[in-house]
Amino acid sequence: MRRTTLLALLLATLAGFAHGGDAAPSPLVIAHRGASGYLPEHTLAGYELAIRMGADFIEPDLQLTQDGVLVAMHDDSLLRTTNVASRFAPRHGGYKVADFSLPEIKTLIVQPTGTGQSSHPGFAPSAAEPFQVPTLQQVIDLVQQQNQASGRRIGIYPEAKQADPAMEDGILATLARNHYGPQSKVFIQSFSDTTLRSLRRKQTAQNNVLPLVLLGVAITGADGVARLGVVSGNTVTPLTLQEVASFSEGIGVSIHRPAYAVDKSFIAQAHAAGLQVHGWTFAKADPAAAATEFQQYLEMGMDGVFANYPDLAVTARKRYLQPK
Ligand code: G3P
Ligand code: CA
Repeated sequence: MRRTTLLALLLATLAGFAHGGDAAPSPLVIAHRGASGYLPEHTLAGYELAIRMGADFIEPDLQLTQDGVLVAMHDDSLLRTTNVASRFAPRHGGYKVADFSLPEIKTLIVQPTGTGQSSHPGFAPSAAEPFQVPTLQQVIDLVQQQNQASGRRIGIYPEAKQADPAMEDGILATLARNHYGPQSKVFIQSFSDTTLRSLRRKQTAQNNVLPLVLLGVAITGADGVARLGVVSGNTVTPLTLQEVASFSEGIGVSIHRPAYAVDKSFIAQAHAAGLQVHGWTFAKADPAAAATEFQQYLEMGMDGVFANYPDLAVTARKRYLQPK
């Protein structure tokens, strides 16, 4: 065996130890924007609470700052979730993340939105600045600290929010620098098939192929054949599941589009194509209503749930896995 191949094998094995080559419980609980139903979204506090609640994966959506740093944030603007308007004048008529440097963004505080609060009963975040906008590296550092503290293996599920080659390169470089490999608990997600195809080409060239998930909507044709609808603005472009499986390991489908309903046949066809199916977003705060919704999709065979209230998802999974 060539020395480079041996080295690649050794690094992949080490990555497996570092990030959890052990099997995660299935179905997966993915903390959507952290424990975003309880604490401000995309904060170290919210991610840590989700981990403490038993989430298997935490989900940072990613944006690029003006100085080229990946930060965890859903919107391309700082306005909705931070106090930017009280600290800075608008730039180019707004508050795009891309118009602010990391040092500037680090002066901001992420504020509660939706049902999120600024604290959670009985929970004290361990981060020094738990409500600043975190970088992707800080999110990974948190995961590694929590892995060490808990003996668990927490996964990371970053989403490229922009179809931007610089973002692709940043995600791959950051994960590689932190020794994420094919055995690690990681998925990279995007709504853009162009982004995922590009990521797969780059991963292959770099000999570090990490699982990819294409986000979209479930389409079942009049012929009963399932496809994934790739959403761009008001346009939905159907791709065959076989086509998606040629560059991805999974699909992430909306559970809130009645015209694009996810059902048992859709999930079975995705599985037959070799794709995992993760659903978004499970956002019911009422425990009984949430339990019913989780149960409905888990019984269809869904492999993972993006949940705003990860504790409710963990409870539902436990019930689902109990011997009947
Ligand atoms: O990534 C899955 C789900 O989070 C997509 O919705 O808009 O919350 O990123 P969004
Ligand atoms: Ca997301």
